[in-house]
Amino acid sequence: MVPDRLSTGIDSVDRLLGGGLETDSATELYGEGGSGKTLFCLQVAYRVARDGKWVFYIDTEGVSVDRLRAIAGDSLEKLLKRFLLSTPKNLEEQSAAVRTACALARGGRRPVGLLVVDSATAFYRLSLSGPEEDDARQALSLEIAELVRTALEAHTAVVFTNQVWRSMRENRLEPLGGSFLNHAAKTILSFERLPGAERRVVLVKHRDRPEGWAKFRITDTGLEGTGGG
Ligand code: GTP
Ligand code: MG
Repeated sequence: MVPDRLSTGIDSVDRLLGGGLETDSATELYGEGGSGKTLFCLQVAYRVARDGKWVFYIDTEGVSVDRLRAIAGDSLEKLLKRFLLSTPKNLEEQSAAVRTACALARGGRRPVGLLVVDSATAFYRLSLSGPEEDDARQALSLEIAELVRTALEAHTAVVFTNQVWRSMRENRLEPLGGSFLNHAAKTILSFERLPGAERRVVLVKHRDRPEGWAKFRITDTGLEGTGGG
């Protein structure tokens, strides 16, 4: 079956993805701080809620309602009624929030169009090189597996963001979380900073699209496509 696509509202990125995000699989966004991952999640979330479906947004970083207001304008209050925000303070709470979100989406009482975990690896990162690392990796793997299953069963787009570390050997930024996350996500987008308000997104992995890139600009009201290749 050809999966549906969820438009991101950024024309260059939609073209890169063949119409938008897949709605039966998980998409991973990784990139350095300030590269636009959170704004991207907020923009897609806004569109899903605006179009009548529910969004479950798990936020480990403190989403600014002001940023959502800038995107949503006067429709913010209406939109927030379909926007279930969860703000876990540690990995345990994050796992619980993921379980709740997945159960709601699979339960089918409300049409859930999008599950977001931003950032999926912030608490995991804190555990690295400590005694909790193995447990944290396992908890994160279980979460992502459940999200993937939910996307497939409930036909709900899943987006999770990931932070990066600099590989000295390769001299480039690599996503955290090891190969498990990269296998679990059917689509992987790498976000890069360019000078000023412009950003570049590279399609690193997709099951039926060629590699490529798209550019967008951060404006006061959201993200706007500026080309691709
Ligand atoms: P981390 O969570 O730190 O990994 O970063 P991120 O990839 O989630 O970045 P985010 O989406 O938070 O993007 C923030 C970038 O957008 C920063 O460079 C801000 O300066 C910029 N930004 C945020 N709001 C606006 C705005 O209204 N106008 C403009 N021009 N830039 C903005
Ligand atoms: Mg962010």
